[in-house]
Amino acid sequence: MGLSSLLTRYLGHSFFLPAHGRGAALPNELRTLLSKRAGVWDIPELPGFGGPLDENGEVFRSQQKSAEDFGAQRGWYGVNGATGLLQSALLSIARPGQSVLMPRDIHRSLINACVLGGIKPVLFDLPFERDRGHVLPPDGIWLQKVLDTLDSSFFEISAAVLVHPSYQGYAVDLSPLIAQLHQRGWPVLVDEAHGTHFAAAVDENLPGSALKAGADLVVHSLHKSASGLVQTAVLWMQGCRVDRIAVERSIAWLQTSSPSALFLASCEATLREFSKPSGKRKLRARINEARGLASQLRKIGLPLLENQDPLRLILHTAKAGISGFEADNWLISRGLVAELPEPGCLTFCLGLAHHKRLANLFRKRWDGLISSFSNRSSLPPFNAPPIPFLNVPLMDCGLACRAPWESIPLNDTVGRVSAEFICPYPPGIPMLVPGEELDQNRVHWLIEQQRLWPEQIPLYVKVVL
Ligand SMILES: Cc1ncc(COP(=O)(O)O)c(C=O)c1O
Repeated sequence: MGLSSLLTRYLGHSFFLPAHGRGAALPNELRTLLSKRAGVWDIPELPGFGGPLDENGEVFRSQQKSAEDFGAQRGWYGVNGATGLLQSALLSIARPGQSVLMPRDIHRSLINACVLGGIKPVLFDLPFERDRGHVLPPDGIWLQKVLDTLDSSFFEISAAVLVHPSYQGYAVDLSPLIAQLHQRGWPVLVDEAHGTHFAAAVDENLPGSALKAGADLVVHSLHKSASGLVQTAVLWMQGCRVDRIAVERSIAWLQTSSPSALFLASCEATLREFSKPSGKRKLRARINEARGLASQLRKIGLPLLENQDPLRLILHTAKAGISGFEADNWLISRGLVAELPEPGCLTFCLGLAHHKRLANLFRKRWDGLISSFSNRSSLPPFNAPPIPFLNVPLMDCGLACRAPWESIPLNDTVGRVSAEFICPYPPGIPMLVPGEELDQNRVHWLIEQQRLWPEQIPLYVKVVL
């Protein structure tokens, strides 16, 4: 069977990304475009239409309009996901040799930007919830501890990155954090890949968006948290801490010179939806449905964890003695497909499509799951990674990636420097970054993770020679 025919296979009830739910929630404009003669929409930059960096084209005007709608000064559409735009954004605020403060749960795309740009990631640790194995976002007190620790270290920071919300939908009020970072004079980039819908400002109980909180650069993944096609994203800029020319230069470094007009049209249509009253109504309806669903499921005993994004449901499988991977495999074979299996949880992305009779479906599947894995007691608490509160790879990430290497059993890596990532996907958060030194505790912990993340942690690791 070819790839094309595989694509249209029915997979079951999809609670995975993209958030348009296999087309069900695509914006009408895009739906109309896709219903035209196949392929007419497949063009690169044409005169007049232009691209994200062409000031004379329609794309540029559209970006300006979207930026106004979202309260930003500038916006650039992206056709290589949040990945491409996060990397461009980071390269625009840090030069080779400079250090950037970032949380330990950073997406690997940003570490890859450090690799490309000779930037030093200064990684700070995060609160860890042992019952589920998740990190939580830092609050102001936590960040102050990070800043105090920095004050007694030698790191000179040039910029900071925050992640908001996390993959599982944990979020905090970003405003005080951004103010603390701005006080130091650092520009702040927020990876809001999972939080485009926060910027639609449809519900006062949803977390505020990073733009509202004053971030200088914000990246939204339009397929993860809006109804866009896969690979679509947007980068916003506001304030005077970041040089627009530097942003555009970095976008030009990393994006194709033939951006797909279909993807660019998808960016516009998706953002327009969140600015129009009809689109806001639709989003509000999905959020209310999701809240109703979670409260019904809690009432009938499903162990759902509290988070701040109603469109992400975190099923705490560890509570019933089941790993997220076991639950995922069992549910997939019964037509319920989640997004993010982890050792202690399974996260469902409800997305923007309307689903019918979900409570009943989830209840039935949960009852079935529990009886198939009966007589289990809760999983033991998970161990936080044994890393310093503030951690900088011993060797420059870019040099470590490009250094001569050998591949050795994970067991034997104590005292060696990693030449690669160890990074389960999803969620794409590195457990080990190139250039980090492996000490005894970290190696023990990684071996433990091998058991917890089946087939996601390699038996052999590339280390610098
Ligand atoms: C927090 C976070 N940032 C960025 C990305 C990259 O997004 P994209 O797939 O749009 O490139 C991901 C992808 O999983 C993510 O989870």
